[in-house]
Amino acid sequence: PTVDVSDNGVTAKLPTGESVEVLLHGASVISWKSKGEVENLWLSESAVLDGSKPVRGGIPVVFPNFGPAPKDHATSKNPQHGFARNVRWEFLGKSTSEGEASKGSDDSVKLDFGLYSTALSDEARKAWPYDFGLVYSVTLSQEGLRTVLNVRNEGKEAFEFQVLLHTYLRVKDISKTTINGLASATYSDKVLSLPTATQSTPTLSINGEVDRVYKSLAQDTTSVLEGGKPRFDVVRDNLVDTVVWNPWIEKAKGMGDFSPKDGYKNMLCVEVGAVDGWQKLDGGEGWEGGQVIRSLL
Ligand code: BG6
Repeated sequence: PTVDVSDNGVTAKLPTGESVEVLLHGASVISWKSKGEVENLWLSESAVLDGSKPVRGGIPVVFPNFGPAPKDHATSKNPQHGFARNVRWEFLGKSTSEGEASKGSDDSVKLDFGLYSTALSDEARKAWPYDFGLVYSVTLSQEGLRTVLNVRNEGKEAFEFQVLLHTYLRVKDISKTTINGLASATYSDKVLSLPTATQSTPTLSINGEVDRVYKSLAQDTTSVLEGGKPRFDVVRDNLVDTVVWNPWIEKAKGMGDFSPKDGYKNMLCVEVGAVDGWQKLDGGEGWEGGQVIRSLL
């Protein structure tokens, strides 16, 4: 595998053609190509990549709060979706392994990114005054892309957090895209302002704006299909919730950094996380959760 490090980010490529590009801003994955250089992630053409705004597309990392900060919680002074997606992370290094075809193993490369409370602005530290260390590992192999977040409480006082990996999957045609793996799950529907609903059909089609938080999912895999054919498997590890989001026509128009305006036809957010309630971490303790996304073309 080859790894190129620049001022803004890191790009890694496997000899078999797969590649991944990660911006230091937010440790946001902005491109992931699999076999045949097929791009798997949607990135807005007007995404702001200069570090002045969270990235519209790819995989922003949401921490320590999901959505608008709740009024009655220690995260109440944080921005929407937390600060992690809007600050510069540090590249900690790479580890590569060369596969042995005879053993059926593939080449892989792991890129590690770190964010520590000491690197935040005074303002951000005041808003959420805890000592923490985050390590985000992005591993590229032929199998797919693995992204794992490790959270450490470096202080004495316990803190509570939420995590979400806000993946924008690229799809050919949203009207032919369906999702499996949510059957019978309980969700809250932000479009209809319904706190509790149950997924009645085994397959979910997207025919309009959708913004749902599926909670405590029984199975680990959420599958995205195109024209009935498997396109992506999103496999959760130590994360039980999944947000399904597509802004559709009006919401897409309202986002200055969303383009082209009909780009909602080519994206679907399937966001794995721990966002229902809070994860509590005592001083000195650690937590880890993540996903593997398989491109099934
Ligand atoms: C999703 C939320 O995770 O992110 C939506 O469920 C939200 O409600 C969307 O609109 C995008 O958020 P943002 O802050 O990136 O515009």
